[in-house]
Amino acid sequence: MSKEIILTGDRPTGPLHLGHYVGSLLNRVTLQQQYKQYVMLADIQALTDNYENPDKVRSNILEVAADYLAVGIDPTKTTIFLQSQIPQIAELAIFYANLVTVARLSRNPTVKTEIQQRGFGESIPVGFFIYPIHQAADITVVKGTLVPVGEDQLPMIEQTNEIVRTFNRLYHTDVLKETKAMIPKVGRLPGIDGKAKMGKSLGNAIFLSDPADVLHKKVMSMFTDPDHLKVSDPGKIEGNTVFEYLDAFGTDTTQIAAYKEQYQRGGLGDVTVKKYLYEVLDSLLGPIRERRATYAANPDYLMKILHEGTQATLEVAQQTMADVKKAMKLQYF
Ligand code: TRP
Repeated sequence: MSKEIILTGDRPTGPLHLGHYVGSLLNRVTLQQQYKQYVMLADIQALTDNYENPDKVRSNILEVAADYLAVGIDPTKTTIFLQSQIPQIAELAIFYANLVTVARLSRNPTVKTEIQQRGFGESIPVGFFIYPIHQAADITVVKGTLVPVGEDQLPMIEQTNEIVRTFNRLYHTDVLKETKAMIPKVGRLPGIDGKAKMGKSLGNAIFLSDPADVLHKKVMSMFTDPDHLKVSDPGKIEGNTVFEYLDAFGTDTTQIAAYKEQYQRGGLGDVTVKKYLYEVLDSLLGPIRERRATYAANPDYLMKILHEGTQATLEVAQQTMADVKKAMKLQYF
């Protein structure tokens, strides 16, 4: 068991999809064998741009929890907790807010992009603007030293470490630990429309919870080579989403190589390869879907897992908070 502590999480704004599966879920299933791992349902962060829609966040808590367990995140190995139930995170965030300037936050590339995407214009909610500070609190509250995230989250790690260093210097302490990003080797999975990124809001995602017929429909509608019109035409496999998925999920490399060769030469139809891809994906997702359905039918069990994980996290958070308050001379009684 490594000494490193992993903290990672997701905003519960929708069920998880194949992009999450290759980007983070598989990684977590592996990492839990070797590390102390916390996985956080970032419901407060989800509210920063869904504050008018608490039902959406609430209902997605159990969706995401079911996804976690269905892919093999094991609650006896991984501590799964709810961000909103750890008040120390909010406390830390307000202390850290003194250490970060508005100018620094405005330069954060992730926040900049997200502000544009959401079209906030001049009306950026303060809660959204400061979420990197809150994220630094997520990580440091459990003294996380490793954060497995996508590249888009690197500015968050940088911001966290700036806060950690400033805090430790100002308050002559080493209670806060610097953290490292752990970028997974896997590439980003394109959406079924061939766009660079799979996303719920982009409408191009295959969800872990998709029933078999929905999966089938999505695969049959996937983007291929737009110039491959007749079966006999030679086709391109570069930028062909079906082949990119086969590379990502297929196990029979001989069969895949043969299909690639035939497709490029001409004589292999899209429908044939898509049917094959459907089989490949369904053999992966079928068992996940089944386990997921069992968990989803058992909300009390899911809630119990979240409750236990949250209780365990609270104990660690209380200790961190005591150390932080001591360093800040906020112990009075
Ligand atoms: N910001 C992350 C996302 O949008 C979710 C998240 C919140 C997170 N707190 C975190 C990820 C801490 C890693 C560590 O996906």
